Amino acid sequence: MRNETIAIHAGYEPEATTHAVAVPIYQTAAYAFDSADHGAALFNLEAEGYRYSRIANPTSAVLEKRIAQLEGGVGALAVATGQAALHFAFVNVADHGGNIVSVPQLYGTTHTLLSHILPRQGITGRFAESDKPEAIEKLIDENTRAVFAETIGNPAGNVCDIEALAKIAHAHGVPLIVDNTVATPILLKPFDYGADIAVHSLTKFLGGHGTTLGGAIVDSGNFPWAKHAERFPAYNKPDASYHGLVYAERFGRTAYIERARSVYQRTMGSVLSPFNAFLLLQGIETVALRMERHVENARKVAEFLRKDSRVAWVNYTGFSDSPYYPLVQKYLDGNASSLFTFGIKGGMEAGKTFYDALKLITRLVNIGDAKSLACHPASTTHRQMSAEQQRVAGVLPETIRLSIGIEHISDIIEDIDQALDKACRSARLEAAE
Ligand SMILES: Cc1ncc(COP(=O)(O)O)c(C=O)c1O
Repeated sequence: MRNETIAIHAGYEPEATTHAVAVPIYQTAAYAFDSADHGAALFNLEAEGYRYSRIANPTSAVLEKRIAQLEGGVGALAVATGQAALHFAFVNVADHGGNIVSVPQLYGTTHTLLSHILPRQGITGRFAESDKPEAIEKLIDENTRAVFAETIGNPAGNVCDIEALAKIAHAHGVPLIVDNTVATPILLKPFDYGADIAVHSLTKFLGGHGTTLGGAIVDSGNFPWAKHAERFPAYNKPDASYHGLVYAERFGRTAYIERARSVYQRTMGSVLSPFNAFLLLQGIETVALRMERHVENARKVAEFLRKDSRVAWVNYTGFSDSPYYPLVQKYLDGNASSLFTFGIKGGMEAGKTFYDALKLITRLVNIGDAKSLACHPASTTHRQMSAEQQRVAGVLPETIRLSIGIEHISDIIEDIDQALDKACRSARLEAAE
């Protein structure tokens, strides 16, 4: 099946009892056992079925199957937020003493997770000086447990060379984990290029309506955990916390995602509510259509901004002179992201006046909504970073990040035009004073 069909049908057929066509919301904490033996078989992971909604829930299971199929993976785990998904994805490969080698262009909170929070658990985030494969390779050593990148960086908009990163990671015996939130599997399927694990904030384009938080981890099933037994003992030695189970032996290609569920989701929670799973499924039904319009509208806005004398620069990877243009052709089939940044002439002050003058475009810190959104990263999402870290992450003081929505293009451009006018007028008045 193709994206448009998977997004509507995968993971669910009208269920046997009621024949409900929409995915039912299974708002239940627990599930009845037929007998003591049935309960024991479920707990031993020998029988298929549900025990308790912290571990699995039938509504969330539909979402998991749908996302796994969109990504071309062998399984997925849905969790409460994108950040919870990233946390589980990292601790599922790295213990105390391990490190994760990452590109520097990351969503601010993911940067904080790797640079401040995981180090408290003895896991170090190592940031390369750029997203170039050579820069990543320099930082890999015997304690590295994964290479990490956002397929399209938020807010830098950089497109990572997934194939090259996967080759380097595999040459050193570690998986490539990617955050595919901004691209979505509609624009890019990272497993086709060798990535091993994909993480999503479902809150963004996949959910698509800015109503519901959610996250997911998807397992390609391709990383050979048993081949790298010394680096990954957690997959290859009996797990005392789960009846001495050896994950790589017992689950083979689904070892990673099963371990994420049975070790982390089971003991730490961060569960997605069935109602939120239902809302996210509603959003996913239209994601393929929406992505087309996001991409088309963004190209028109970027072209408008580039021609405008009031604008200093536009960082849009769909322009043929962007250093990422060749990667946009290779990985995104020419569909540059609707998330991009620009700077207005007059620096920080003019940028703030522009931002405050927006009427249709919402000022906030979300992305990937059907609505057009704008953010000033230096004062919000990336404010925890030093000025130098901000620069490397693609954030300048005047940077405005746009997430272009699916409204009528003329309305979006008219709003930007009037806000640019106000910013310019106020800059001229200041200069005259
Ligand atoms: C690329 C990326 N990954 C992860 C997240 C975190 O997602 P959530 O807000 O669902 O925790 C975000 C949030 O903006 C993001 O942009």
